[in-house]
Amino acid sequence: MSKTIQRSWFDQYMVPCFSPAPFIPVRAEGSRVWDQDGKGYIDFAGGIAVNVLGHANNELKEALSAQMENLWHIGNGYTNEPVLKLAQALVESTFADKVFFCNSGAEANEAALKIARKYALDKYGSHKNEIISFENSFHGRTLFTVTVGGQPKYSQDFAPLPQQITHLPYNDIETIKAHISEKTCAVIVEPIIGEGGIILADQAFLEALRELCDQHQALLIFDEIQTGIGRTGYLYAYEETGVEPDILTSAKGLGGGFPIGAMLVKQHIAEVFQPGSHGTTFGGNPLAAAVAHKVLSIVNQREFLAGVQARHHEFIRQMSTLNQRYPLFSEIRGKGLLLGAELEKKYQGKAKTLTNIAAEEGLIALIAGPDVLRFAPALNIEQQDINEGFARLENAFKRFVQE
Ligand SMILES: Cc1ncc(COP(=O)(O)O)c(C=O)c1O
Repeated sequence: MSKTIQRSWFDQYMVPCFSPAPFIPVRAEGSRVWDQDGKGYIDFAGGIAVNVLGHANNELKEALSAQMENLWHIGNGYTNEPVLKLAQALVESTFADKVFFCNSGAEANEAALKIARKYALDKYGSHKNEIISFENSFHGRTLFTVTVGGQPKYSQDFAPLPQQITHLPYNDIETIKAHISEKTCAVIVEPIIGEGGIILADQAFLEALRELCDQHQALLIFDEIQTGIGRTGYLYAYEETGVEPDILTSAKGLGGGFPIGAMLVKQHIAEVFQPGSHGTTFGGNPLAAAVAHKVLSIVNQREFLAGVQARHHEFIRQMSTLNQRYPLFSEIRGKGLLLGAELEKKYQGKAKTLTNIAAEEGLIALIAGPDVLRFAPALNIEQQDINEGFARLENAFKRFVQE
C-alpha cells in the first residue's frame, strides 16, 4: 500500500520538540490501535493516562455527537448547559465548591498557582508569595509551571524565570518543616510523582503538608492531572489519603481524549478571582464539557473503580511473573492503573530502548524518566488485551536482554 502521508513529514514540517515513533497510528478501538500498515498494537499507555475509557468509546462518541448537533462554541460572554452540568458534577463529587475550566493540565496548574498568589496577596500582603514544590515533580510546560516543576532541564533555557519558587526533596518532612514560613503562599504536590518516575507520596508526608500549610496559612495544591479520574482506583487520589487539598488540578483523563482541564477550589479561594482576573477562550467549551461529563458519570461509579483495583492486581501479578523469568526490574510500584517498573542497575538508562522494542512487538508502553517503564492503560482494559499485551511484552523482554 502506498502511503501518501509519511512519518518523514514530521521532521519536514513540525517543530522538533517531540520524537514520535516511526509508525503512524490511524485507527483505534478500546485498547487496540492500528497503524498505516494495518499492524495492530495493544495500548498500555492510554495516550499518557488520558484515554480512561479506551479509544472510540461508544458512550463518549454519542455524547460528543449529540452536543455537536447543538452548540460547538459560544465564548465566555455566555455560559452553556454542558459546562454547568460538569461543574455541578465535579463539585458534588469532591471537596471543592467551585470549578474553573481550561484546556490542559499546564493551564489548570497555571490557574492554581495564580489564584494562590492572589489569595495570599489579598489576604496577607505582598510578602507572602513563595511557592514550594518538590524535586522531580512535573506540572506542565508554561513558563510558570516549568519553573515550579522540579526538573531544571525543562526551565533552565528560558530564564528569566518567575521568582520565589523553592524546590524541596519529596517525602522529606523534616526539610519542609525547617523551610516553610509565613512567606509561603502555597505548596504544590503530586500525590504520585508521574513523569518523574512513579514515586508514591508517603501518607505521613501528605498529612504533614496539610498540617504545615494550616500552621503557616499556605494553600495546599494537589496536582491530580495524572492521578485523577479513577486512575488510582479513586475518583481522585486524595480521597484515599484522607488529606484534603485547598486546590486540586485535573486534566488528562477528564476528557477521556478530548482536551479539557479544570481547577477545583474551595469557596473562600474562588472569591479572589473576579471577572477579569483570569480567563481563557476555549475553557468550558461545550463539546469538551459534554464529553467530560459523560466520562465522569461512567468513572465515578463504585463498580467501575473496583474494576480499576482488580486490574491493578492483574497487572502487578503478570508483571511480577514476567520479572521472575526476565529479572529486569528492581521494583514494581504504583496505584490502580498508574504503574512503574524500575530497571535494575545494569539496565538503567534503557527504558526508552525497551519501549521501542515493545512497540516493534506490538505493545505501546510509556517511560517515566530514563529508568522506569510506565503503564497507564485504559481503566476498562479487557482481560484478553492484558494477556495479549503481556505476551508481547515477554517477546520484547526476550529481545531486550539479548540485545
Ligand atoms: C502531574 C502533571 N501535571 C501537569 C501536567 C501537564 O499537563 P498538560 O500536558 O495537559 O499541560 C502533566 C502532564 O504530563 C502531569 O503529569
